[in-house]
Amino acid sequence: MSEHELRVSKIRSGTVIDHVRAGQALNVLTIVGIDGSEGEEVSIGMNVPSDRLARKDIVKVEGRELSQEEVDVLSLIAPDATINIVREYEVVGKHRVERPQVVEGVLECPNPGCITNADEPAATRFEVLEDGVRCAYCGTIVREGIADLIRE
Ligand code: CTP
Ligand code: ZN
Repeated sequence: MSEHELRVSKIRSGTVIDHVRAGQALNVLTIVGIDGSEGEEVSIGMNVPSDRLARKDIVKVEGRELSQEEVDVLSLIAPDATINIVREYEVVGKHRVERPQVVEGVLECPNPGCITNADEPAATRFEVLEDGVRCAYCGTIVREGIADLIRE
């Protein structure tokens, strides 16, 4: 995309989560725990044209450098995402998200009988499989629609 077509402004310092699967930008924000209530400056592009993907979402967070741990969970819903760390307008770091082995406290178990859904719910814990996630407490496996399990 040429410069005059830039849809979402460049940021000064922070994190750009690029090449997010189209339609997943809001889930990305939920996962990294940003809802704007703390005054964070966030820009979102949805379904923007991309070279690598037919369409992509993009999320830019000013003033926050997200840690590897925070972003790796994104691989479950945005496996092609690129994390760009920006300082003084320059990209100083770029890496792909990596599949974590375990995801804690981010997803909700779909099994209503699971101990994590009891009156005093325990923190959730899922093992990451090649093609899905498995609840460490009740063994429920979810392969499709992992984004629907994201805790609001
Ligand atoms: N970006 C930004 N603000 C900056 C610098 C970069 O918002 N000050 C964004 C760019 O718009 C782009 C992403 O961060 O979406 C990565 O920037 P860059 O590495 O310069 O772009 P590309 O080379 O196109 O990245 P890639 O090869 O990962 O597609
Ligand atoms: Zn469970």
